[in-house]
Amino acid sequence: MASKGDAIRGKILELLQENTEEYTSGEDISRNFAISRAAVSKHVSVLRGQGHEIEAVTRKGYRLLRMAEQLTEQCVQQGLKTTVFGKRGVTYMPSVGSTNIEAMQLAFMDAPEGALVIADEQTGGRGRQGRTWHSPAGCGLYVSVILRPDIAPNEAPIITLLTNVAAAEAVHDVTGILPVCKWPNDVLIDGCKIAGNLTEIFLSGDSVGHVVSGVGINMRPLPKQIVPELRTTPCSLEEIIGKKVSRLQLLQAYLTRYEHWYLLVKKQGFAPLLSRWKELTDVVGKELTVQVRGEMVQGTVIDVSTDGMLVLRNANGEERRLFSGDIL
Ligand code: BTN
Repeated sequence: MASKGDAIRGKILELLQENTEEYTSGEDISRNFAISRAAVSKHVSVLRGQGHEIEAVTRKGYRLLRMAEQLTEQCVQQGLKTTVFGKRGVTYMPSVGSTNIEAMQLAFMDAPEGALVIADEQTGGRGRQGRTWHSPAGCGLYVSVILRPDIAPNEAPIITLLTNVAAAEAVHDVTGILPVCKWPNDVLIDGCKIAGNLTEIFLSGDSVGHVVSGVGINMRPLPKQIVPELRTTPCSLEEIIGKKVSRLQLLQAYLTRYEHWYLLVKKQGFAPLLSRWKELTDVVGKELTVQVRGEMVQGTVIDVSTDGMLVLRNANGEERRLFSGDIL
């Protein structure tokens, strides 16, 4: 049931929607809904946090620039040309701890392959290696998909690369900029991380039971107080391209690309995906240091193996295949 605050915010939004050409004064809003000016300002902050773009100008008032895009099942499926991803259940949550955790729970309750969990905001967004993925409302796309692939546990890194490719291609589809894939899970534009993915596998005996693959794409700048160190480099799509990006369009592009690669892997194996990932990466041939659980591994990247591992050769000619790690 909607709270009293939600009800007032809904009405404020309706009022602002009635006239998007002119400013509606804080005084008018406060009179209309019998609330104080301070309460008006608080409600407007909450609406902004939900992704609505509202301009505030001193002595003029408020103006609605853009309504938040809805990511409900109906909105996501409208015009979506996939057959599996996004067509077998879309769970939309305005706010959630982590979409990966929600998706895991659904997968344990037998949710089918292709089902998704999407959120406007994650309060406990998770990155690789126990890191936090900052996920405030209105700043990004946060989505997890459920997979039931017929692969061996040691082939799981391929899912990370697939998610990487789908995210990079989706960014290209909506912005015209083709990002670079950085092993294992980053998507970069001009050296700046705009997306990452967290793939979690669940074993059933010796084989893969289900996989949850979650992607986070930074679309708008994070509020300064969250991660001040990130604010020096533009790390969101809208900062980089200098114009608005539709979250719904980005999601649909991502699902379309995901499905293309996933079904192709099922039919033809890993080779076509791997060669696409190699086209999108710049690591092959580079001399690098990779941190693997505290150990520093140095060498030249000579390949990415058929199951998604990074193959390094050190100065002594010895080869190491890395399942996971952080390129420094
Ligand atoms: C990383 O780069 O370390 C991985 C980031 C993955 C973030 C996404 S956002 C959707 C999904 N839910 C999570 O809690 N994490 C992933």
